[in-house]
Amino acid sequence: MTVIEWCGDSVRLIDQSKLPSEESYIQTGDYRVLVDAIRSLKVRGAPLIGIAAAYGVALAAAKFDGEEYYSFRDHCATAIRELASTRPTAVNLFWSLERMRNVLERGTTIESVRKALVSEALRIHHEDREMCRRIGEYGASLVPQRSTILTHCNTGALATGGDGTAQSIITTAHKMGKTVNVFADETRPLLQGARLTAWELMKAGLDVTLITDSMAASLMKQKRIDLVVVGADRIASNGDVANKIGTYNIAVIARHHGVPFYVAAPSSTIDITIASGDQIPIEERSAQEVTEGFGRRTAPVGVRVYSPAFDVTPASLVTAIVSERGVHTPPYDFKKTISDHD
Ligand code: MRU
Repeated sequence: MTVIEWCGDSVRLIDQSKLPSEESYIQTGDYRVLVDAIRSLKVRGAPLIGIAAAYGVALAAAKFDGEEYYSFRDHCATAIRELASTRPTAVNLFWSLERMRNVLERGTTIESVRKALVSEALRIHHEDREMCRRIGEYGASLVPQRSTILTHCNTGALATGGDGTAQSIITTAHKMGKTVNVFADETRPLLQGARLTAWELMKAGLDVTLITDSMAASLMKQKRIDLVVVGADRIASNGDVANKIGTYNIAVIARHHGVPFYVAAPSSTIDITIASGDQIPIEERSAQEVTEGFGRRTAPVGVRVYSPAFDVTPASLVTAIVSERGVHTPPYDFKKTISDHD
């Protein structure tokens, strides 16, 4: 399965909205198709959104029809703006578009900028693959030889440019010969856990049991969960974590039951420009995703719906954050950790 690839003058990506019943691909030379794919979650997961957006800018540059350099720059800047407007929470989107914008601003000719944008997009993709590998290695050290792990949403190859974030920890521990059983939350309302995580983990040969989101507390009470590992869409400098709605509930019950709660994310998900999670914009999704998800109405017509896609888990509930740079423990001060490293 190829999740996303640059094909010279087009991008090919798996349509995640059709999984797991259909493995079909979108191939496009039009960045606007990618804008729609990101907005409608055909391509999703914080790191992968960043990679898709970078390819979107490269496509916009490749398809510009004209010879005037300043019109070319305006065209690419418009594409960057449109891509940035798709989803507000995953900071990887803005991080990656900023890198593309820097390339655009340094350029002097259309041809050289086109080439440089493609190289930068491929670099962003390649770096993410490497970050996933290292997150897996660092994180696997936290997994006991025999353990049952709870995870939420989808953090695998379908969410990144490599083997995943939280999921890379799970699969790396499995590859190291550890006995790992996984409980995957279905992840209401769009069921990324049921449709994507269960599918990916089964394909990788892991022992996975699907549960509804509301079952986690009772499993913890029965001492059937040894640790929780989830991904992140944006981590503030103080370690507050925005992730798929429902993550905060899990962190609270994990603390209540003395279960370690780990977060895995590349440094491209850490936003050192914000001090705390209060500053993270939380995306609200359409009512339809709740009232008639997957085409069947399950709520009365006209009912009021509130559907935030993410919540913020306070750093005080996070046992450790695993990035490609290692295992970070509290107190978190990413502004310092990241500036010291760079
Ligand atoms: O709305 P989605 O499906 O893009 O949300 C994805 C998540 O919340 C993931 O858990 C998060 O991006 C971490 S993934 C590597």
